[in-house]
Amino acid sequence: MDEVALKMTNINKSFGGVQVLYDVNFDVRAGEVHALLGENGAGKSVLMKTLMGVHRPDSGDYLIAGKNVRFNNPTEAQRNRVSMVYQEFGLVKYLTVAENIFMGRLPSRRGMIRWGYTRKRASEVLGSLGSSVPPSAVVGDLKVADQQEVEIARALSYDPVVFIMDEPSAALSYDEIGHLYELVNTLREKGVAIVYITHKLNEVFDIADRCTVIRDGRIEGTYAISELDLSMLVEKMTGKKVSAEVVREDTYKKPKESIIELHGMNAKEKDKVLYTDVDMKVGKGEIVGIAGQIGAGKTELGKTIFGALPKTFTITGEMLFDGEPVNMKKLSPSVAKKMGIGFVTEDRQAEGIIAEQSVLFNLILPAFQRVTRGFVIIGGMARDLVRGIIKDVALRPPEPGRLVKFLSGGNQQKVVIGKWLAAESRLLILDEPTRGVDVGAREEIYEVVRQQVRENGLGVILLSSDLREIMIAADRILVMRLGRITHEVLPHETSERQLLHFVLGEEEEAEGKKSKK
Ligand SMILES: Nc1ncnc2c1ncn2[C@@H]1O[C@H](COP(=O)(O)OP(=O)(O)OP(=O)(O)O)[C@@H](O)[C@H]1O
Ligand SMILES: [Mg+2]
Repeated sequence: MDEVALKMTNINKSFGGVQVLYDVNFDVRAGEVHALLGENGAGKSVLMKTLMGVHRPDSGDYLIAGKNVRFNNPTEAQRNRVSMVYQEFGLVKYLTVAENIFMGRLPSRRGMIRWGYTRKRASEVLGSLGSSVPPSAVVGDLKVADQQEVEIARALSYDPVVFIMDEPSAALSYDEIGHLYELVNTLREKGVAIVYITHKLNEVFDIADRCTVIRDGRIEGTYAISELDLSMLVEKMTGKKVSAEVVREDTYKKPKESIIELHGMNAKEKDKVLYTDVDMKVGKGEIVGIAGQIGAGKTELGKTIFGALPKTFTITGEMLFDGEPVNMKKLSPSVAKKMGIGFVTEDRQAEGIIAEQSVLFNLILPAFQRVTRGFVIIGGMARDLVRGIIKDVALRPPEPGRLVKFLSGGNQQKVVIGKWLAAESRLLILDEPTRGVDVGAREEIYEVVRQQVRENGLGVILLSSDLREIMIAADRILVMRLGRITHEVLPHETSERQLLHFVLGEEEEAEGKKSKK
């Protein structure tokens, strides 16, 4: 199908005098998956939100199926079967899944809401994307991946002809991404025009037909995927060359002292086991990467060390911090912080940052003791500290006073990381730290972390499902699968491909294939 479903012409947009989109032209065909790519802050989300009527463009034309349209708000867009899965969730946490999906248009008859029917419709939509989230669950009780599925289900329930997904896979496990791909393929076959925004560039090659790269608010170009490879794509996005496959050649130096040791750690709640028999050590000045799928138990392990696991869980085993046994019953996030443990969480919206506050405020939260005397913030010191951090994480725009809610998604994640760098921890737990961060900024963030590791003897636990990230940043790699540490390897002894087999538990199969050859 070649018919153009969506055409945007000469879109311009500025916020308070700062222009963020310049004469953007973009079109999507019916039955096409079109990836929209670009660095953090390039303008991807804003462009799509001008179509949805979330933002009003300064100028430009929008054609849907050849007809001029201009939506004043998302409701209008949805009524015209244009819908979007937003990067920042808009779910109401205390309502149920079904209520969230049909918010503002709950099926009713004679003034009575038809709850049974609503739940049935909700489970149909969820089912169509392979989700098993119960429609009657309260959204706030769901894990991030399930919330993402609810978001997708809600957008899908408008039966869209133009379907925009802004980083839909960021919080999903490999299995869940598989379901997402199936959904995307089904929609494509039905002739839906799909815009797919992602920073996981391998996905582009998995499902997109064409892609458009946007750089600093200007279109760099539109390409057929068949014309491109990964390194060409990165070069178009960043203007820099990178290699596609990570090869580590440095040798491993075993640290002399450990900052943290876990011996025979287990956690469970009633019959639900989170992880089993975990033994690990992290040295001073060492980055230990824990590679594993979303849902493998990595986050729970991180939360245990930070004292953030709910008290309803039973934790057994021994944890030593700086050689001293830690009383796990008394460990809480505030105790952990005092000990010098920092935790960059995977869910920036729930725990990471306060969007209504400035970058400065957010960055100095954990560093509070260093920049305050009594309760008065010492302005100069705070500002110097914050300027340094903003530079380190390559925040764009580099303005301490900007409210976090006005930053692009990836830049919000940089604030989360920067906040803990400011705290000068002794052990830093990073949970999917660069989710939503573009390729270029990622490398910069690893470099800042590495610098603190080298210079200050910081110990780091890097929990990640991004194997490239693990390969680039870790000194030593543990693989976690279904709550157990299954492998320990050094980066120069392995490859992304081998790690993927380990993470998926396919090593026998992989070896079997090898021996057959
Ligand atoms: N509501 C707003 N007010 C002011 N500036 C904004 C607002 N929303 C976005 N911006 C700015 O517009 C620019 C483009 O942001 P946008 O969110 O579109 O980036 P993006 O390409 O989606 O990046 P990411 O990959 O990080 O999500 C950024 O410089 C951002 O700071
Ligand atoms: Mg965005």
